[in-house]
Amino acid sequence: MPFSVRIDRLRRDLELVAQFGAGPDGGVTRTSFSEADREVRAWLAGQADQSGLARRTDGIGNIFLRLPGGGDGPPVWLGSHLDSVPAGGRFDGALGSLAALEVARRLVEERVPLRRPVEVVIFADEEGNYHHLCGSTALVQDYHPDELAGLRGRAGNRLVDALAGMGWDPAAATRTAVRPGAVHAFVELHIEQGAVLERRNVQIGVVTGIVGLGGGELVFTGRQDHAGTTPMPMRRDPLRAAAELLTRLPDVTGSISEPAVATCGVVVTEPGATNVVPGVCRLQLDFRDPDRDRLLALERAIVATARAAAQRHDVAVTYRRESITDPVQLDDRIQRVIEATAVQLGLSTLAMPSGAGHDSQNLAKLAPTGMIFVPSVAGRSHSPAELTDWDDVENGGNVLLATVHSLATE
Ligand code: GLV
Ligand code: MN
Ligand code: MN
Repeated sequence: MPFSVRIDRLRRDLELVAQFGAGPDGGVTRTSFSEADREVRAWLAGQADQSGLARRTDGIGNIFLRLPGGGDGPPVWLGSHLDSVPAGGRFDGALGSLAALEVARRLVEERVPLRRPVEVVIFADEEGNYHHLCGSTALVQDYHPDELAGLRGRAGNRLVDALAGMGWDPAAATRTAVRPGAVHAFVELHIEQGAVLERRNVQIGVVTGIVGLGGGELVFTGRQDHAGTTPMPMRRDPLRAAAELLTRLPDVTGSISEPAVATCGVVVTEPGATNVVPGVCRLQLDFRDPDRDRLLALERAIVATARAAAQRHDVAVTYRRESITDPVQLDDRIQRVIEATAVQLGLSTLAMPSGAGHDSQNLAKLAPTGMIFVPSVAGRSHSPAELTDWDDVENGGNVLLATVHSLATE
């Protein structure tokens, strides 16, 4: 590769974008369709205009920035997401998005003759404020209007209202799907979000596959009572059953497989007062396994354990599945291109699976898809402690550049 990314510009962009939704502790809260998300979208539009990239936004908020040239065949896509989890880090999604912007700039600046179009894609709501991998899901299959109307954010607000608040027509969010074959290939650069690369002192991860991921809600219903006058043995406290389930999750996952994980990141009691025994306890669950059958077995095991706990504490429980995202294998040929590219740049590589979910797992249904990982310091992510060294940012950017160059000019 005769040219490389400009790390000074990529670093400046990453530091600048980290100001949109900056927290007091170095992290960011840039949840989808928030004020900070609007700000970063406006900033990106300005950058695209300066760089000669034609921009459009689809009905669900995915952003496409197209380089000049390349004809009108199926494009090579590269990109990631600019939304974050609440109190997240500066690199998850932002690295892949801003590196994609930098790659686009470099291809334009170097006047690379493209054999096919190249588009930077920034996926909306990857972090599932409204729906897990919301924007890329909408590229695979149109949302049914009823499903779209039922989607609510973490704050309880409706997605259709959030879309209207962005100035978009919510009806357009049901017309977003792209037909398989319409995209030549997709490549996403991302931080590893785990500690494998760091521990093994490897510079580039070539992702082989992405874990399957399920989400659902358990609602335990007991009896609301007075906290002072209801004797302990007489209570039907739904939080007790929920607590029992949570302490049993390590055994439940262990009974399924070694990589299986299950997390409850949201617990809500109702009515939610210190002097009231709660009547209802809601748990939002996230469960993952690299194998689809095991993922479904894990879901069944969690629900069975919840039912047993509910029975012991004399409360009721219901379960509602919210999403199942299948595990995927990434494309062999693109893995080989990434690997060869990295080796040519003198970088060490490791073939590895991803335990985090990514838009790439949806894109893999549309087009040959590959992912490049760079190390995360101490494996920290979904936290303000998220960090990647600038050398690794540069390496990842250069592997992305050379991989896209190869796919766009072959
Ligand atoms: C995405 O960040 C996920 O793995 O939840
Ligand atoms: Mn994330
Ligand atoms: Mn991410």
